[in-house]
Amino acid sequence: MSHAEDHEGTRRDFLYYATAGAGAVTAGAAIWPLVNQMNPSADVQALSSIRVDVSDVETGTQISVKFLGKPVFIRRRTEEEIAQAREVALGDLTDPKSENPNKPGTDASDQNRTLDENGEWLVMMGVCTHLGCVPLGDGAGEFNGWFCPCHGSHYDTAGRIRKGPAPENLHIPVAEFIDETTIKLG
Ligand code: FES
Repeated sequence: MSHAEDHEGTRRDFLYYATAGAGAVTAGAAIWPLVNQMNPSADVQALSSIRVDVSDVETGTQISVKFLGKPVFIRRRTEEEIAQAREVALGDLTDPKSENPNKPGTDASDQNRTLDENGEWLVMMGVCTHLGCVPLGDGAGEFNGWFCPCHGSHYDTAGRIRKGPAPENLHIPVAEFIDETTIKLG
């Protein structure tokens, strides 16, 4: 990747980051006069859920938003990415049992990891389950998903660990669509 592309990627991430952050800041500002410095946990509570507008997210791209101090990846997958993830047998996974908190009692098959039934929207914590680096996305690594360069963990197009030292699939946060183009985290 050239330097210019790299910069562009960073800038784009930042724009989305700033948009998502603005809502949270507004909520924080409104609550602040009430809590002052007496009860910082109330301020934290105000940030415990955010809404992300995904109407500009094109198929085959992803955005990163910051939620509770950590990056969350929201990817709109291509048909190819979906097919690739769905043809993997559970027995081939390092962590076949990881659960999606939005679908309790399920396993790590692709259908269970996405936010929508079609498998288009994948929402995951952008935190490597090895030691917490932020993996690279957009088809990175040997399984066309995410790659953590810190110690070489490869995740597939459903964010499941396939190779390297990370023990678990990328975690899935509590999330839901509250209308066609808005995802609520938390
Ligand atoms: S932190 Fe990701 S591979 Fe070590």
